[in-house]
Amino acid sequence: MRQQKPLGLITRGTTNPNRLRRVDSWIAWKYANGLRAVESALIVDLGYGESPVTTLELAQRIREVAPTTRVIGLEIDRERVTSAKRFETEQVQFREGGFELAGLEQPFLVRAFNVLRQYHESEVQGVWLEMSKHLHPEGAIIDGTCDELGRLATWLEITKAGPQSLTVSLRLSGLSDPIESAERLPKALIHHNAPGEAIHEFYQDLQRAWQSAAGVGVFGARQRWRATCEQMRERWPILSPRNRDRLGEMTVDWHAISP
Ligand SMILES: C[S@@+](CC[C@H](N)C(=O)[O-])C[C@H]1O[C@@H](n2cnc3c(N)ncnc32)[C@H](O)[C@@H]1O
Repeated sequence: MRQQKPLGLITRGTTNPNRLRRVDSWIAWKYANGLRAVESALIVDLGYGESPVTTLELAQRIREVAPTTRVIGLEIDRERVTSAKRFETEQVQFREGGFELAGLEQPFLVRAFNVLRQYHESEVQGVWLEMSKHLHPEGAIIDGTCDELGRLATWLEITKAGPQSLTVSLRLSGLSDPIESAERLPKALIHHNAPGEAIHEFYQDLQRAWQSAAGVGVFGARQRWRATCEQMRERWPILSPRNRDRLGEMTVDWHAISP
């Protein structure tokens, strides 16, 4: 087995390491059992970018909860594949490929982060359909976006049955207003953040809840977020359990916020 290079030594280009830690934490929590139940489960990291660091980080995190999971980074940019090849191990490989998922057999998960935002909204549904054709029956596509440092992230979970949920995940320390994450919504929602649309109402309500929980802020941002989540649970189909609140996470049923 080839020795794995420490992640800190990898040339990063402009990719901030740990940028995708929020979604990786959620994947490890939500899909650990599913990944363990499948023999040599596969995760595809679609569009890993200039540096393979986020793919290697995903593999490292997943190995902690589902040790036999393989991760394949796919890139449309051939040069990026060539330069990532030297970081391959038995469990992590890099290949050229796109939404057809390079003909890979039933990946359990596809993480496509900061990829679909480069496309037109009218293409999104077709892309989801194309990728979901190849998915494992219990699997999902995670289509998300985040800021440069990974402090604000949002993602959609899409199964073969269609979109299921939107997750908002925020670094609570220093957070002034959760509405800031609306600028990082996935392509399928970002253009709908306007009056009259459900996602806009969701964010307005999230902002109101955060403001009305300001008093709790004296006990810290985490307590304030917890109080915000409790208010949102009264009015929205929040799917995330309370033990995810402390991470600055909130998952809402897609059907409540879909355009
Ligand atoms: C902004 S980077 C995202 C990198 C990384 N996923 C992250 O979030 O830090 C987007 C990458 O997606 C790749 N890409 C765009 N369209 C793609 C497609 N159809 N299939 C595979 N990769 C694609 C681009 O080449 C680029 O490297």
